[in-house]
Amino acid sequence: MANSTAKLELGGENREYEVLEGSVGPDVINIASLYRDTGMFTYDPGFTSTASCESKITYIDGDEGTLLHRGYPIEQLADHGDFLEVCYLLLYGELPTKAQKEDFDYRVTRHTMLHEQMSRFFTGFRRDAHPMAVMCGMVGALSAFYHDSTDISDPHQRMVASIRMIAKMPTIAAMAYKYHIGQPFIYPRNELSYAANFLHMCFAVPCEEYHVNPVLARAMDRIFILHADHEQNASTSTVRLAGSSGANPFACIAAGIACLWGPAHGGANEAALNMLAEIGTVDRIPEYIDRAKDRDDPFRLMGFGHRVYKNYDPRAKIMQKTTHEVLGELGIKDDPQLDVALELERIALTDEYFIEKKLYPNIDFYSGITLRALGFPTTMFTVLFALARTVGWIAQWKEMIEDPNQKIGRPRQLYTGATQRDYVPIANR
Ligand code: SDX
Repeated sequence: MANSTAKLELGGENREYEVLEGSVGPDVINIASLYRDTGMFTYDPGFTSTASCESKITYIDGDEGTLLHRGYPIEQLADHGDFLEVCYLLLYGELPTKAQKEDFDYRVTRHTMLHEQMSRFFTGFRRDAHPMAVMCGMVGALSAFYHDSTDISDPHQRMVASIRMIAKMPTIAAMAYKYHIGQPFIYPRNELSYAANFLHMCFAVPCEEYHVNPVLARAMDRIFILHADHEQNASTSTVRLAGSSGANPFACIAAGIACLWGPAHGGANEAALNMLAEIGTVDRIPEYIDRAKDRDDPFRLMGFGHRVYKNYDPRAKIMQKTTHEVLGELGIKDDPQLDVALELERIALTDEYFIEKKLYPNIDFYSGITLRALGFPTTMFTVLFALARTVGWIAQWKEMIEDPNQKIGRPRQLYTGATQRDYVPIANR
């Protein structure tokens, strides 16, 4: 909705651009005609001041430290809902009725099996391959099997692909883990909940019954909720850009997985636990705080800082609570890395540098401690993030495909390279 304008004086000409107002959060200046009007581009590396799209799915207030999914605060969804309910909310825009939830759970549950031939792909990977490399390959390969849900112009196929992605990510992630540790694959069990089924596929072995601890299953489900979606972050923007060319949803999600892998993004949960292990003891924290503040040292506190949150990441608070719950349930009294994390947070939050730059713990700071306690190796942490974020990627992809204003994403540039010059034969160089 346009209700005011922004004035631009350029080259002696005055122009006005409409200001569009959202339901909440910053207004935007619609500059779509700027190049046609002025022959100039805007310049915003990293898109710090750029809205790439209109969306109704997730809203973050970075100053307040709030996160809403379709208007519902993350704290309420994490306390009262389950992950598949949040998936329904992200995909359809409303919380499901009891009947809608039962139908959605049924549909997802019955898509959890993977085409049997796909299990052969795993033998092509080295056992010690990083599981994220396997995830990139396996998810991209889904488009080589599920041809009946790759026509993005068909709403039915878009929904089938969405359900398949949400349903099969835990199976693929568990298979990547089992392959990594040299154990046989465990098939999904339809009588188990989404999170319990995932833990069963990861930790059961054919030799004996495996009973999933309900407290740990609930913690796993809540961790999935916390990672489900987060506005136009780097990997979601990757999925949207890939999807804007008409690429099939499986290929787009594979692109999102590749982007999430980076340590500045989803890879930070693995990097944060490795950092806590490297620090080792509380007395070594000051040395690392100094390194984080040293502009000449590339070291950063992994799990700290955020492009949007300039306050405490609400997900980190819930994650910290979950960490204590899981450690308590497992009877882990003292976890040296948790001690280091708590003390590191305490020191950082009172340090002038972190206060001035508004650096707070983000979701990745505590998640690693929890995931390791649940039994996962650090190499699986970002895989779990990708598993949970798949619903956010697919919901944002679907919204983009269904947006009448969307077109192929094709940014421009500020060119500072050589101007035109003639070829010089090698004999004359
Ligand atoms: C996720 O976007 C999302 O929503 C992402 C995510 C999601 O759910 O999708 O929330 C998930 O990716 C969380 C972030 C995980 N990454 C990390 O924890 C890695 C460590 N954090 C930093 O790399 C950094 O904070 C980023 C990448 C998260 C944010 O970077 P920005 O917004 O580009 O900020 P910046 O790098 O420009 O930093 C601003 C200043 C800089 O100092 P100056 O150059 O201005 O002097 O703060 C400093 C930075 O040096 N800074 C840090 C720091 N993070 C920023 N200094 C020390 N330690 C840090 N962690």
